[in-house]
Amino acid sequence: MKKSDGKLKYNIAVFISGRGSNLKSIIAYSKKKKACYNVRIVISNNKKVNGLLIAKKYNIKNYFIDFTKSKRLGNKVIQILKKENIDLVCLAGFMKILPAYFIKLYNGKIVNIHPSLLPKYKGLNTHKRVISNGEKFTGCTVHFVNRYLDSGKIIFQKKIRITREDNAKSIEKKVLNIEHKIYPKVIEKILSNP
Ligand code: GRF
Repeated sequence: MKKSDGKLKYNIAVFISGRGSNLKSIIAYSKKKKACYNVRIVISNNKKVNGLLIAKKYNIKNYFIDFTKSKRLGNKVIQILKKENIDLVCLAGFMKILPAYFIKLYNGKIVNIHPSLLPKYKGLNTHKRVISNGEKFTGCTVHFVNRYLDSGKIIFQKKIRITREDNAKSIEKKVLNIEHKIYPKVIEKILSNP
């Protein structure tokens, strides 16, 4: 990928809706000397969420925008992304479906992390469904975002074994830990491999 503003590092935008633990791990990675990207902005569709506090703590420009409400708000987001020279949009626990025209405009430049081995268990409550179906393995997937939910091209997956002692809660914890490790590195790979 080509840097959009001739700077030394790529600029990424992280879209969140809540807790922001993936955001935190992405920021931590971006602070490393070897990282090829900066977290330039954080956008949340919810106002009072921990993810926005994390952005504030690290002095990262942050916006609350409920932009799927109308086209006008979507356009506002596009304006911000252009102004901030954003090279890649990373969804991290972002719970809104992006408008189709937005996805089309940023085709190949929006990625997401999902807590299952896609194409299995798209959507919500993945861990609960994985456990009740008696799966032996689960994991997480980083994928490009297209207009269909959790269906874009898979970039990277990490698989873990489910033990007899596991339940939805313990699996959530294990998978989340893996997400924190892989997502920042996969973002690095996407940006540095044109
Ligand atoms: C993660 O499990 C992610 O895979 C899913 O939503 C959760 C977000 O967690 N899309 P956090 O907000 O990053 O802590």
